[in-house]
Formats: sequence, structure tokens, C-alpha cells
Amino acid sequence: MKSFPPYRIQVVREIPITTRQEREEVLAGAAYNMFDVPANKVTIDLLTDSGTGAVSAAQEAAAAGADRSYAGSDSYFRFREVVAELTGQPHILPVHQGRAAERVLFGSALGPGRISLSNTHFDTTRANVELTGAEARDLPCPEAADLDSTDPFKGNIDLDALERTLTGPDGGRVGQVLVTITNNGGGGQPVSMANLRAVRRLCDRHGVPFFLDAARFAENAWLVTQREPGYGGHAPREVAQEAFRLADGCVTSLKKDGIAPMGAFIALRDAGLAQRCEANLIATEGFRTYGGLAGHDLERVAQGLREVLDPHYLRARTAETAHLADLINEAGVDIVRPAGIHALYLNAGRLLPHIPPRGFPGHALACELYLAGGIRCAELGSLYLGRFDDAHELVAPAPFELVRLAIPRRTYTESHLEYVADVLSSIAKNPERVPEYRVVDAPPVLRHFNLRMRQV
Ligand code: F0G
Repeated sequence: MKSFPPYRIQVVREIPITTRQEREEVLAGAAYNMFDVPANKVTIDLLTDSGTGAVSAAQEAAAAGADRSYAGSDSYFRFREVVAELTGQPHILPVHQGRAAERVLFGSALGPGRISLSNTHFDTTRANVELTGAEARDLPCPEAADLDSTDPFKGNIDLDALERTLTGPDGGRVGQVLVTITNNGGGGQPVSMANLRAVRRLCDRHGVPFFLDAARFAENAWLVTQREPGYGGHAPREVAQEAFRLADGCVTSLKKDGIAPMGAFIALRDAGLAQRCEANLIATEGFRTYGGLAGHDLERVAQGLREVLDPHYLRARTAETAHLADLINEAGVDIVRPAGIHALYLNAGRLLPHIPPRGFPGHALACELYLAGGIRCAELGSLYLGRFDDAHELVAPAPFELVRLAIPRRTYTESHLEYVADVLSSIAKNPERVPEYRVVDAPPVLRHFNLRMRQV
């Protein structure tokens, strides 16, 4: 039986319909930087799944009744109850978004000379590790390097490499192991419960704290119920609870699986660490019962966390992404396999073999999706991950040239996604027409947000 989402649409927002000529002018005017394209010139926005999902009537109703008290608001206690039940952790701090959680936690847990080990640090996560003076080291499992393999848990951390690092000369400097579920920087692939349990054992043996970056904890839990032996009959809520309890704490952006426009939390087992984080939080984010969030934000995330683990919702969202993946494959475009949930990662390097890394095939495909159909998405290739010299020439390309199509929650219908596949299919019919790009100008920090490019 076909799955369908457990909601109907009650409030809608018009989306802009533009002409090719308009889009050519807009993109050239933005110096081919997607982050400089105004949203009112974007038809289907697949730049991110973060903070862009539709809120429910129940979330808005809760938000309307929010309590804005500075200390100990009702909204805080409702938020706290939901997060405590989910994570089982005694110390819970609200923060305004995931990267603030990272800054507060890593500022207390890491520091110069320390090392953070991860399956893959998300970009803000890496930046926040490095801002403390520590080193961020990615240890993805070997299966992740084969984009075409259908291994079910390509988001896993490499346990052998983790053990080697913990027992090796750098072992004493490891300040944390941080496992990202699902692995956004690694193709949106899930992490198995067996992998999390093994990380727990290694961290216990070496006395190192184990944290989760749990931005997509519900989608990871769902994929565990679908793919991991022994979890077939489990409710996604039980799996998520087990994952949170295996770790010593987490940083969790709620702009993804909180299905909220804004919000995040830190949850911790260790009282001393929680106290240090709380001092940092109060100085930089807000008091411990609101942490940079308004009462209505606390209410929306509390309700979003109740809704996101509904198996009907997770099944339908997974089916929607899988449907898009099938259409894209039929169009002859390869993606990182197997398809995850929050995003599909197109193999632009393979689709556009005439464009070398220095011509940025991922960026070229992202630009073409915009020019051909008003679709916005993000490059994850040499432009974003490569290394450059002072003249903006690429000196070390990224291992893969990918484009991420992120799918906001409860936002687009199947026909919107079919339109995306149609546009991609039209590009794939004549890929050699897609031009190369060069960097004109880039700032030394946060380069991909502020790049200026030109077509060749
Ligand atoms: N961790 C992961 C795995 C993320 O994907 C993100 C954000 C963050 C942390 C930071 O959270 O945005 O609330 O500060 N990812 C977004 C994305 C931006 O498009 O993938 P935040």
C-alpha cells in the first residue's frame, strides 16, 4: 500500500514562478553565488532542510499560549519534560540553534591541543572545535568512500581507526568522540546502533566522553528500524531513546528533527560539565531556562519533538525521498547510495565529466538547476571542501563533486519533487552544455557563503 503523510495542508505560501531570462539576470547579479539569490526568485528551495519545514497547527497553538517569563517559564518546563523523556539526560540547556550548542559545549569540553574525533564533523561543528584551539578529525567508515555501495550504515564511524587513535600516541589528547546522526557531511547516511554501542565501549575503556550531534536523530532511528537486524519491530521513539542514553550527552539542532524554525539543546550526564556550560550559556546565549529562545520557540520545538517520531510521518518522508531518488536514477543521474531521508547527494562529477574539478562540476550543476528550473541547492565538492591558493586557484580538490538536494519537512508535495526530477532529467540529456565556473573573489573565512564566481 502506498504510504502518505499523516497531515493535510491548511495554510500555504505562494512560490515564485520566474522566466529563464529573469533567472539568468538574477544569478549573474548574485555573481553565481546561491546564497546571494533572493528567496523570492527561487521556485523550489532545496538549499537546506534546516528551519524551513512547515509547522503544525498544534505547534502554532502551543506557541500562542507561550509563557515569556525570564526565569522558570511554563514553556521551559514543557520543553524540558519532552527533552528529558527523549534523552534520559539529567542536565538540559536550551540554546538558540545547533552551532550555539556546539560553541557552548566545546568551549567547556575542548581547548588547545585537544582532538575531537567524529564520523564526520558538520562544517559549523568543525569550526566550533577549531575555534577552541582543538583539532577536528573525521574517521568515516571505509564503506563511505564508495558512493555506489548500498551498505546500509555508511554513516558509521570507523571503529578500527577510532581504536587506533585512542590507543596511539594522540590518545591522551582526545577530548571527545562526537558521532553525527545521520551523517550529514557524509551523504546523509545513518549510523547503526551496533556502531554506537561499540563507540560507547571504546570511550569507556579510554575514559573519553561520547557525545552525539543528533540533529537528525528521528530519521536515524527510522532507518535503524528499517535496516538494522533486531530493530525491525521497534518504535522509532524507542530507538532514539536508546541512542541518546548510550551517549554522555548531545548537541541537537531542533531546526531539523525538531521541525521548528529555531531552537536546539545541549543534554549532559556530567553535572560538572553541565555547570561550566551553564555559565557560558548565561553569559552568551541567555538564562538557563530560555537560552536564546523565546517562549514560542520552546513551545514549537517541544511539540515538534512529539510529532517527529510518528512512524507514519517518518515512513512517508522516507518514501518521498526514495521516490525522488528513483526518478533521478531513471534520468541517468547517480546519487550517493543508498538514499537517505533529509537529502539526496547528486554525483555531479560523474554527470559532468567534461568539467574538471577546477571548473567546479558541483557548482556548475547547482547553477544549471537554478537556471533551468529555479531550483536552489548547494554544492558539496571542491568549491566548498577543496583547498585554494591566494590567487583562488584550486590546489587540492575534494574527493567527490556532489550537489545536495535537501528536502524541507512537510513542505513540498510529490509533484514539486517530480518537477525537480524533470528539470534534472532535461539537464542530463545534454550535460556537455553545462559551462565551467571560476572563482573571481573569495574572502579568507567562510568562503563559500561570500564567493563571487564567473562562467567560463
Ligand atoms: N550539526 C549538523 C549535523 C547539521 O546538519 C547542522 C546544520 C548543525 C549541526 C548546525 O545546526 O544550523 O541549528 O546551527 N545544518 C544545516 C544544513 C545548516 O543545511 O545541513 P544549526
